[in-house]
Amino acid sequence: MARLKVAVLISGRGSNLQALIEACAAPDFPAEIALVISNRADAKGLDLAAKAGIPRAVIPHRDFATREAFEAAIDRALTAARVELVCLAGFMRLLTPEFVARWRDRLVNIHPSLLPSFRGLDTHARALAAGVRFAGCTVHFVRAEMDEGPIIVQAAVPVLPGDDAERLAERVLAAEHRAYPLALRLIAEGRVTVRDERVEIAGASAPPETVLNPQR
Ligand code: GAR
Repeated sequence: MARLKVAVLISGRGSNLQALIEACAAPDFPAEIALVISNRADAKGLDLAAKAGIPRAVIPHRDFATREAFEAAIDRALTAARVELVCLAGFMRLLTPEFVARWRDRLVNIHPSLLPSFRGLDTHARALAAGVRFAGCTVHFVRAEMDEGPIIVQAAVPVLPGDDAERLAERVLAAEHRAYPLALRLIAEGRVTVRDERVEIAGASAPPETVLNPQR
């Protein structure tokens, strides 16, 4: 079966990109990364793509007079590579409603919180300040509003006594590296449908147990 052609858009470190690269390396994984696009030439993730032999494009937003022109360049690169699904992985540019509409239900993002809580930046510090007992991450289809859209996969990560934002971020990141490949696999297997702005997943099973934090 043909594998789903994916582009990953990054701005920095690229650890989620690396998790997707490793998932796609399995011969039976139903997706392949056809292109990595960065809006920054110095993004570390570009080296990870290079090591994996994946085509890269640097499209610096500063080279364009308008957001629309920047996105038109991205769109041309995606079309040229015959990309079917776009994964945002630490891509730190807001996309216009027009771009989001053009890629509707073919554009996914990972965000380091249990959405709809803690949209935006500094999610871990804000989660700790709010005193939540679970943090986590969310993979979702992108809509025009920032960090909003139908949820595909979430991972819940317990907040531990003495956590600071850095330690919590590290554990959530490890969960991100499991959640994103899972979401990509489900989509590429054709099991994910959006109905009334909620995601249905064919043949999915939920974990059997409720988890308490603290346990006692
Ligand atoms: C990840 O934690 C991702 O969830 C977050 O940026 C980080 C990128 O790390 N994305 C957002 O905050 C988007 N709202 P990475 O470059 O190592 O994958």
